Amino acid sequence: MNLVSEIRSKIETGAIIGGVIGLGYVGLPLVSSMARNGVKAIGFDIDPAKAGMLNSGKSYLETVSDEEISYALEKGLFEATADMSRLKEADFLIICVPTPLDEHKTPDLSYVEDTSRTIATYLRRGHVVSLESTTYPGTMEEVVKPILEQSGLKDAEDFYVIYSPEREDPGNKDFKTHSIPKVVGADQPEALELAMRFYGKFIDTVVPVRNAKTAEAVKITENIFRAVNIALVNELKVIYDRMGIDVWEVIEAAKTKPFGYMPFYPGPGLGGHCIPIDPFYLSWKAQEYDMPTRFIELAGEINISMPRYVLEKTAWALNHHASKALNGSRLLMLGVAYKKNVNDQRESPAFPLIRLLEEQGARVDFHDPHIPEILPTRHFAELGGRKSVERDSLDIAAYDAVLVVTDHDAIDYALVAESAKLIIDSRNVMARFPDVAKKTVKA
Ligand SMILES: NC(=O)c1ccc[n+]([C@@H]2O[C@H](COP(=O)([O-])OP(=O)(O)OC[C@H]3O[C@@H](n4cnc5c(N)ncnc54)[C@H](O)[C@@H]3O)[C@@H](O)[C@H]2O)c1
Repeated sequence: MNLVSEIRSKIETGAIIGGVIGLGYVGLPLVSSMARNGVKAIGFDIDPAKAGMLNSGKSYLETVSDEEISYALEKGLFEATADMSRLKEADFLIICVPTPLDEHKTPDLSYVEDTSRTIATYLRRGHVVSLESTTYPGTMEEVVKPILEQSGLKDAEDFYVIYSPEREDPGNKDFKTHSIPKVVGADQPEALELAMRFYGKFIDTVVPVRNAKTAEAVKITENIFRAVNIALVNELKVIYDRMGIDVWEVIEAAKTKPFGYMPFYPGPGLGGHCIPIDPFYLSWKAQEYDMPTRFIELAGEINISMPRYVLEKTAWALNHHASKALNGSRLLMLGVAYKKNVNDQRESPAFPLIRLLEEQGARVDFHDPHIPEILPTRHFAELGGRKSVERDSLDIAAYDAVLVVTDHDAIDYALVAESAKLIIDSRNVMARFPDVAKKTVKA
């Protein structure tokens, strides 16, 4: 049997074993989805504490339940480890490690490179390697494959590589990993066929594209599209506010158009691991082709200015509604997660906003039912360790103003409407309480 037939047969008989490297927001739902569909996976993470927790049936992410992990363990379909030598036991290796930017907005591929080097150490004939981390077009071809070939094995002779972008949307209850169509691209037709068969076992729809770099471009296009459209609506928010028009009302009406319009919503700024970061992967790569990426730069500029806009609105609101200055005001921020119903604080716009407010002399407490304590970060070290005011101790009326930053469902907005002296609302959650419109300022 030739190599492709061997791998194909493993997939068809169910003998194939997945190896998911990086058990975070992307990797963990992936192994859970595989287990639910009877596909066995070994999960690899550099952090042994994570592997230990998972092996005892505990999830560390709100988006994957303990039950899901226990189910996979009990069925013998999942096991986590920090022992990378066990990569040899898996057949289809999926890389889901972080792809951040460094302080100069340059792609930091060190996690992908380290993982590729580790795989190269244990690479064997018959391995298929799929990169799922978001990155610029050309990464598989120019970075991952050459590292894998340092093992002495040859792509398309001894092993196969593919790129398949991850489209996970943590916290989105309408879509699970299996129901989100999955794009796959490979330079070799055999690799594409194997990827279609493998992912087809636990993903409802697999969408093939002609090569890895097209698949890499698909992902980056999707996230640039979001970043640019969010920037557009943030810009419109500021303009319409000056004109006395409520952007939220405009969007609600505009989205009744059944074609040619798609709603995006303004907010206090971009957050998360993807939208503020991924577009700059393309900007960086485009320089190699002497191509500017003006839309990306402009969107970045507008989105990054949003916390300052919320600061200005807060100062204005305190001044006009309470004859108070920011300096000395007590503020309660609702939500510090970067988006609703998740405990993910990465790149959250809440952090620059807290810093800006405190630079002006305000005293800021926060309440976030999903984030009991702010984790230390490189850029906002001073906020690390700050604790959420628990619901039972919340004295909303004691604050000069309440700022809605994240529209978590678990926040009691009726209580906010009843007790707050003044509300600065960057998410339009208070629109459902028309009685408090007079003390609400949209930001
Ligand atoms: N979070 C999302 O919603 C989302 C959506 C789509 C795509 N992505 C992309 O997926 C990739 C992963 O993102 P994430 O949010 O899951 O990150 P994450 O930080 O939640 O998880 C990454 C995991 O990889 C582990 N890790 C780091 N280096 C490792 C190594 N050398 N070997 C083994 N494990 C290692 C970390 O310990 C961590 O558990 C990124 O490229 C991201 O852009 C993320």
